[in-house]
Amino acid sequence: MQAKINPSILSADFVNLESDLERISNADGVHVDVMDGHFVPNLTIGLPVVARIAEVSPVPLDVHLMIEDADRWAPKYAEIGVASVTFHFETALNPIQVARDIRKVGAKPAVAIKPGTLVQEIEKIVEFIDMVLVMTVEPGFGGQSFMEEQLQKVSYLRSNFPDLNIQVDGGISKETIAKAAGAGANVFVAGSAVYGSENPALEVDLLRKLASDAM
Ligand code: DX5
Ligand code: ZN
Repeated sequence: MQAKINPSILSADFVNLESDLERISNADGVHVDVMDGHFVPNLTIGLPVVARIAEVSPVPLDVHLMIEDADRWAPKYAEIGVASVTFHFETALNPIQVARDIRKVGAKPAVAIKPGTLVQEIEKIVEFIDMVLVMTVEPGFGGQSFMEEQLQKVSYLRSNFPDLNIQVDGGISKETIAKAAGAGANVFVAGSAVYGSENPALEVDLLRKLASDAM
């Protein structure tokens, strides 16, 4: 399994997004955080903007939906040419059906869990999805501190599902990425660490190297 680095554009310059996407063209994907002001207290962008980002991005889109009514909206994001759509387990009425709907229109389905959600709750749906996102902060904002205790969930998933893609999101940096990789994560989201650095592309390569060495 190879380490993948997906920078989050939540910490990019939304007015100069196209050039900020070019700055991370060596990344494995770009993480796009969709927030609705209900499921999480913050509000970001919606379907038309994500569709336009998908048109210009040099790397595939990894869409992270932090919105209510995933059953209705997640398949619509899958239709616009993104690589994967991650919805929160906590908001989906029928997660297996949502996963099937996403796959049917050509994207990879993934499920995210908040820090307060037990990992055992999603075990039964792992066979229907391509990736689990273990949140390592409370979803809603960039720049928060890494919640190391969440890595117990990563270790548990890795020992039970050796081939599963496990993503971590929140507080990933040069200081924390090796711990997450050591616990079994293989896809790493980093917002402030990448876009807060002088040279985002260099930071992506550095994070990938630190993760690979620890995996
Ligand atoms: C938070 C978002 C993250 C955020 C991470 O709810 O899901 O993707 O951009 O930001 P950092 O890497 O700064 O913690
Ligand atoms: Zn995210």
